[in-house]
Amino acid sequence: MGKQRILSGIQPTGELHLGNYLGAIRNWVELQRDYDCFLFMADLHAITVPHDPKTLAASTYKVAALYLAAGIDLEHATIFVQSHVPAHTELAWLFLCITPLNWLEDMIQFKEKAVKQGENVSAGLLSYPVLQAADILLYEPDKVPVGEDQKQHLELTRDIAARLNYQFGSEGHPILKLPEPMIRAEGARVMSLTDGTKKMSKSDPSDLSRINLLDPPETIQHKIKRCKTDPIRGLQFDDPERPECHNLLTLYLVLSGKTKAEVAAECQDMGWGQFKPLLTETIIAALAPIQKKYAEIMGEPGYLEQVLKQGKERAEAIANSTLMKVKKALGYSLPL
Ligand code: TYM
Repeated sequence: MGKQRILSGIQPTGELHLGNYLGAIRNWVELQRDYDCFLFMADLHAITVPHDPKTLAASTYKVAALYLAAGIDLEHATIFVQSHVPAHTELAWLFLCITPLNWLEDMIQFKEKAVKQGENVSAGLLSYPVLQAADILLYEPDKVPVGEDQKQHLELTRDIAARLNYQFGSEGHPILKLPEPMIRAEGARVMSLTDGTKKMSKSDPSDLSRINLLDPPETIQHKIKRCKTDPIRGLQFDDPERPECHNLLTLYLVLSGKTKAEVAAECQDMGWGQFKPLLTETIIAALAPIQKKYAEIMGEPGYLEQVLKQGKERAEAIANSTLMKVKKALGYSLPL
């Protein structure tokens, strides 16, 4: 039997941060030896909120370079740009026509983003999870490794697949495979540095709320110095009254590679003045090799273009075959 397949993606909007790294990329790197990996830049999703055409293409390349810099190996993974594979939008349209409107109106991320945008909410923002379902189901993955915030979108993906199978498939012969979400316990929900009850996010207007993967050491030091803490001495995990404390300890735990028990023992008597420099050093050390590799990749002319061209070819072969299967089931005449 061949390897199982995983598929995942990140939107090229804003700067990638520690949440994206710990919730997603780092896990892909660990999984890649055991799975056939399809990883993409979700640039069609990036225009569901107002965007700048001048930076879209460059941001897409930047994310691809960060995947590689973080350790994604082209021997195990295919990296591609979502908009280079037209099957994504075509399957999304077919899915839109079988998805009940109220399923989309119930999506938490839609509600949150819609509130922020007021009257500017596009139909694209509402339809976003259907495009995500197409992204996933086209590749028939076994698992989809993501952070906690994507859980509801993955449930919707399974619901859409099940609905299509029920309406157009036959008993025992499903058209689409239902994938499993893969969400790690630690790092699946990295919180904002300025509010430990909100997730770290690319769209937070304050850059102080996140550590970006390409932040230089001085910026990291500044952000940790300024990050929100509490007046209590002695640091501990899992206290609901101390969300910032839990978040910062978790960052230290994941990036240092120590166990939870080790970190709890090491930090139980510390004050913030002692812990913050330790965390700063740990973050800087964890990001240094990624930043170095990133600079190398960006300095090699034509390299990323080549990677993405090959990625498109591999992705398209699989995506087109799934799309044809769905179109056939829906009764379309197929071109000869
Ligand atoms: P995006 O671009 O918001 O985030 C990319 C990945 O990073 C994870 N993540 C986090 N994990 C932990 N803590 C955080 N604070 C944090 N913030 C983000 C996300 O869970 C995600 O795994 N809709 C998706 C992109 C997408 C996609 C897909 C993903 C489009 N199609 C198909 C998987 C499969 C998104 O906006 O992710």
